[in-house]
Amino acid sequence: MDTLVIQGGIPLEGKVRVHGSKNAALPILAAAVLAEGEYLIDRVPELLDIVVMRTILQTLGVRTKQEGGKVYLDTGTLTSNEIPEHLMSQMRSSIFLMGPLLARTGEVMVSRPGGCDIGTRRIDLHMEGLARLGIQFEEREGNIYGRTKKLQGAKIVLDYPSVGATENIMMAATLAKGITRIINAAREPEIQDLQSFLNAMGARIAGAGSHMIEIEGVDRLHAVSHEVIPDRIVAGTLIAAAAITGGRVTLEEVQPDHMESVIEAFKRTGVEITGTESSLQVVGHHPILSLDKITTSPHPGFPTDMQPQMMAYLSLAQGTSIITETVFDGRFRHVDELMRMGAKIYTDYHTAIIRGVRRLSGTRVRATDLRAGAALVLAGLAAEGCTVVENVHHIDRGYDHIERMIQSLGGEIVRRK
Ligand code: UD1
Repeated sequence: MDTLVIQGGIPLEGKVRVHGSKNAALPILAAAVLAEGEYLIDRVPELLDIVVMRTILQTLGVRTKQEGGKVYLDTGTLTSNEIPEHLMSQMRSSIFLMGPLLARTGEVMVSRPGGCDIGTRRIDLHMEGLARLGIQFEEREGNIYGRTKKLQGAKIVLDYPSVGATENIMMAATLAKGITRIINAAREPEIQDLQSFLNAMGARIAGAGSHMIEIEGVDRLHAVSHEVIPDRIVAGTLIAAAAITGGRVTLEEVQPDHMESVIEAFKRTGVEITGTESSLQVVGHHPILSLDKITTSPHPGFPTDMQPQMMAYLSLAQGTSIITETVFDGRFRHVDELMRMGAKIYTDYHTAIIRGVRRLSGTRVRATDLRAGAALVLAGLAAEGCTVVENVHHIDRGYDHIERMIQSLGGEIVRRK
């Protein structure tokens, strides 16, 4: 399995273009099965999760190919609504196909999804919401069977603003009879991108980005072309890379208004960040100032997907920082690995107390999940000596060749097969 070998201590400098958002592209690719036709989805990152989604679509009969950032889909050839277990278990986002397949074919068969091991990942909100639209579910031998005669619009109040559940319900409701209102909807930018995509297909959706999304069902949708928004978590990780190395980096093709809480948090640690509508200039300064308290929460709060990277950065701050993780219950698996590099971190269930140290030391560490892996790369960039990050396949799920982005900024990092 691949490893990344990093020689730490080099301030990153230069310009880097941020690729398209994985979390926006995945539901959009799933939503394409809602209508028959030929799609071109642009700015799709070349990532393992996208390959898995395309493989699932192919298994369902969809014709697809990816050329660079362009994904071509022909959904006119859909022949199945059953997702095999070995594919479901590879990626949690396979669950996104549940709503669209039910809306298009009236039936679906899936198994419980896999994905990053970052805590309990239930799908009750997806299923309860879809059930409100008139879908009957049955679980047999580990498989979930969903069936509906006709989807009916409904008022759905989510217990928690789940990103995936909001998206799944939105997609199914586009073809339901009447109006659906999702109350306590998630407000992530990726949901706004999905709304734009679906509306271009002929759906009538309003409110994405707010707590209430209203969907007026239509009889049919049609295929379109679409460009995916920039990846705000990749952009945030690159801000952290510039900051932790005391570098000077320009991020191009980003959307700063999608990442205000992240920009604000880094500014509070002393990082200079200025920007335009589509670029950010980041200048890191040492000593890094600690943060009294930072709490992850649904958008527009500080994203859980930036928590491990922020922790790696704060492990080198002057003073003590406190991070509270409220979104996932098991998302501190990077802590042990950071401590192997010399970080001083104490965890108590949802809270991590990070006592800043003067230096981290390079050693062999293991990525336990996607963002934990990114955090270890960041720690390696600042550490003394050489860091070897194992299990790079986790990082490849969310970063299109992270080593190339860092190499383009002068960082010493190589991939070993
Ligand atoms: C999405 C993102 C992921 C990010 C997360 C939170 C994608 C492909 N992935 O994941 O990168 O970390 O949002 O910002 O967009 N929950 C339930 N029942 C459900 C669904 C969720 O209890 O039916 C709980 C989860 O266990 C978790 C919390 O809600 O504790 C947030 O999950 P959710 O917002 O659904 O995240 P995902 O859509 O899986």
